Amino acid sequence: MMTQATDQPLFVRMDDESFARLSSYVTREYGIKLPVNKRSMLESRLNKKVKSLGLDNYKQFLDHIFSEEEKQGDLLHVIDLITTNKTDFFREPEHFKFLSGSFLPAWTEQANRQAMNVWSAGCSSGEEPYTLVMVLEEFRKRNPAFNYSLLASDVSIRMIQAAFKGVYTLDKIAAISNEMRRAYFLRSKVQPDLVRVKPEYRKKINYRRINFMDDGFGLIKHDYDIIFCRNVLIYFDKATQERVIRKFAEHLRPGGLLFLGHSESIMGMNVPFRQLRPTVYQAMA
Ligand SMILES: C[S@@+](CC[C@H](N)C(=O)[O-])C[C@H]1O[C@@H](n2cnc3c(N)ncnc32)[C@H](O)[C@@H]1O
Repeated sequence: MMTQATDQPLFVRMDDESFARLSSYVTREYGIKLPVNKRSMLESRLNKKVKSLGLDNYKQFLDHIFSEEEKQGDLLHVIDLITTNKTDFFREPEHFKFLSGSFLPAWTEQANRQAMNVWSAGCSSGEEPYTLVMVLEEFRKRNPAFNYSLLASDVSIRMIQAAFKGVYTLDKIAAISNEMRRAYFLRSKVQPDLVRVKPEYRKKINYRRINFMDDGFGLIKHDYDIIFCRNVLIYFDKATQERVIRKFAEHLRPGGLLFLGHSESIMGMNVPFRQLRPTVYQAMA
């Protein structure tokens, strides 16, 4: 067990060699680029963890997290600290308008439709998959025969736990209409600034930890109709983005859709998609 060093500095600086070791590990295993200008961001996110282990330099810290016995413990916690998890309900709202206004009605009109398979890939703390639940449920109210299954995944266990819990501060749902708030959220009785997604809607989402760098994503289904992978690939280099997008194509039905974030694109990539809207791509047969 590690003990607290008495003369531990308040802030532990990361030496060049440790930065190179950590950044090459994160890029190789998780795809996330960590150029030198991210060093101070890394230091500030990891400082508390390094100090809580009673350590005063990064060489010891990296030896600790990469040791065999820590591979499933502190190393995973470090990945939780490194990933950027910014997200919102109805982020990039034109995607959801396109779904309810165009894609869902056209999809249901085709013959022999079973349940629609939807995947929020890189779901962060759940705002994106719960937005999808709201959009799909609202559509179902108007089309009772419509049904869906929804998978939400992230590489960060901490984020999956937050999404599963479905608890948010009131300001997070400020932009959602009163009617939708009443339909999908419950106000906490003990903490009036908190809301929680109603249990019947929390149950609509299945969760998996998926690292986009893993072959085949460990998924069995190859018949998704919709994949949302927004504001994740932006942290990867172009070659890795292209590899991941090709894997998404393998998990989509012909005609299925891939939604990327507003600053992401498949331009210049050799991938089997055609563009339908800005950042909305359709898998080719
Ligand atoms: C900025 S959030 C985007 C959340 C949401 N999709 C949105 O657009 O609001 C990026 C998420 O991607 C996840 N992520 C980063 N690298 C990943 C990887 N290699 N595999 C799977 N998820 C990853 C992070 O943990 C983080 O929660």
